[in-house]
Amino acid sequence: MSTDTVDLTRLTDPLNRADPYPVLRELALASPSRTAEGLMLIGRHADCSAVLRHPAMSSERERARLSPNAKGPRTRNFLHLDPPDHTRLRRLVVKAFTPRVVAALEPRIRGAADELFSEAAAKGRFEVVSDLAYPLPLRIMCELLGVPFADRYLIQDWSAKLSEALEPPLPGLVAPRATAQAAQARAEFIQYFRDLIAERRTDPRDDLVSQLVRVEESGDRLDEHELLATCILLINAGHETTVNLISNGVLALLRHPDQLELLRRQPELSGQTVEEVLRYDAPVQVTSRVAREPVALSGSHAQEGDFLVLLLGAANRDPDVFPDPDRFDILRPTGAPHLSFSAGPHFCLGAGLARLEVRIAFELFASRMVNPRLAAAGLSYKPNLSLRGPDRLEVAYEGIR
Ligand code: HEM
Repeated sequence: MSTDTVDLTRLTDPLNRADPYPVLRELALASPSRTAEGLMLIGRHADCSAVLRHPAMSSERERARLSPNAKGPRTRNFLHLDPPDHTRLRRLVVKAFTPRVVAALEPRIRGAADELFSEAAAKGRFEVVSDLAYPLPLRIMCELLGVPFADRYLIQDWSAKLSEALEPPLPGLVAPRATAQAAQARAEFIQYFRDLIAERRTDPRDDLVSQLVRVEESGDRLDEHELLATCILLINAGHETTVNLISNGVLALLRHPDQLELLRRQPELSGQTVEEVLRYDAPVQVTSRVAREPVALSGSHAQEGDFLVLLLGAANRDPDVFPDPDRFDILRPTGAPHLSFSAGPHFCLGAGLARLEVRIAFELFASRMVNPRLAAAGLSYKPNLSLRGPDRLEVAYEGIR
């Protein structure tokens, strides 16, 4: 490992926002490396994959020795827990997202997506983020959990504030204003779900919140704090990420009209398209782990207590794994695994659901939009580093079928 330090905050430079991949390539080539604050940066696919699967790599970030902001857990949902608590809590919800349960949602998702395109057609304009990418996954997660969709704007607002603060613990990366807003949003989220849980206790329904309330009441597998943390995790993880995958994908297709045309002619390529977008422009760019003991990495070692920042977006463009990695190619063989859904014990629980929602969104975009183009000045990005995606993506078109 080089003794020179690297600067992760280059990625937050607005000049690198639209295309962070040249900087990510440099950071990956220099990795494993350290920031001036002592965080370890990992960008090669082999290292990221090994860290995510390594039993000595902890998801309990507060174990870190050096990280300046990681004084305590930001939330104790199971994304931030190790076994045995992680295993116990994940097991309680995994049944709600099995391939069979997810496949049965297809007609509902298709119906909801179709409606959104028709609404946009009636309105006469199509802004991907607010007209499709937010409402589709949020509606489905609300239905699964039993959260009234009428509350979507509250949830969207709280989620966006939590996401903005979900960055690696480096000074200056999260503005104090964003940290304060996230704390406020978390408090409001907790109160919201406290009220919903109380309602479901007296009036249970056929939804995931009611099921979790039953588990809590039936014994010692889930306490009330864990119930709240799980609800908040699911509603957030279940849409804030998928939003970015839909928007990043539509943008990639608009910028590669030959690929969009290919998808329009061969809708059966939609599954492959989803995988290529996940690889090409990962919605979750960064995750992290803390080493519980020394772990060997390519040409280096993580020491006990090291905070490791994993650059998933860089790993997905590692030329050792993906030939010609900067090319967007929906015909790319899907054998080499991208890391956009992570790997190992924390592999995304909702990957199957996300894949289905986004496959349907892409199929309908290709089939229903007539001659779509990126509108002039139609694109701007959210400021987040970890969760990457546009906050506005305006499409010019000749019609919506
Ligand atoms: C975990 C990405 C959609 C629920 C994760 C992780 C990633 C990820 C990278 C693991 C982070 C780590 O290892 O540190 C994504 C992406 C999505 C998506 C890119 C969409 C494109 C969803 C959906 C759900 C969901 C629709 C709905 C249930 C979860 C949960 C975890 C998780 C509960 C925690 C799993 C665990 O800790 O065991 N996701 N996700 N995600 N995701 Fe997703």
